[in-house]
Amino acid sequence: MKIRILTQNDWKIWKTFRLNALKDSPNNFGSSFEEEFNLSDLDFQEGMTKSQIFCAFADDALVSSAGFYSLQTDKTRHRGIIWGMYTLPEYREKGFASALMKTVIEHAKSRVSQIHLTCVTSNDIGLKFYLKHGFKIYGTEPKALKVNDIYFDEHLMVFDVSE
Ligand SMILES: CC(C)(COP(=O)(O)OP(=O)(O)OC[C@H]1O[C@@H](n2cnc3c(N)ncnc32)[C@H](O)[C@@H]1OP(=O)(O)O)[C@@H](O)C(=O)NCCC(=O)NCCS
Repeated sequence: MKIRILTQNDWKIWKTFRLNALKDSPNNFGSSFEEEFNLSDLDFQEGMTKSQIFCAFADDALVSSAGFYSLQTDKTRHRGIIWGMYTLPEYREKGFASALMKTVIEHAKSRVSQIHLTCVTSNDIGLKFYLKHGFKIYGTEPKALKVNDIYFDEHLMVFDVSE
């Protein structure tokens, strides 16, 4: 397994991977396939500059992802956000997402004091994964997402990296 942060030069493999993730798990992400499919290539490339996109590769193929960015205002820059955790189904339960999560947490430690993320309440596997990595639920947002007229609540989760 190799882990690295994508650059804008990787935008084509990232676009393919990301759109596939959104199509495969429509209820588990805040963003929709249709929304990102309709982005221009330039918008997609620019979007990549707003986060560090950590990816795990197996035999040179991108198999798992985790995005990270820190908030930008004076009063919020101590907070980081993790988004877009996804492992291709055939590579799951082999430790790829865990390796990425550990790498992102190390990266975050020198930049922020806490990391936030959200997890749809019905996503048992995602929830187990985040709890295993030390995240705690600090609230639950009702009807956080609406997908095809169905509402989904989201757990708000935080991990204090300064402890
Ligand atoms: C959640 C996800 C990213 C985990 O990726 P992964 O590469 O399979 O994760 P790992 O192999 O590193 O698993 C680490 C831990 O996650 C949990 N986990 C992963 N898959 C699991 C499964 N099928 N059943 C139960 N627990 C599971 C376990 O706690 C596991 O640790 P363990 O093996 O010691 O029990 C992956 O299942 C996925 O892409 N799901 C769809 C997208 C999604 O829900 N993303 C999260 C959005 S909030």
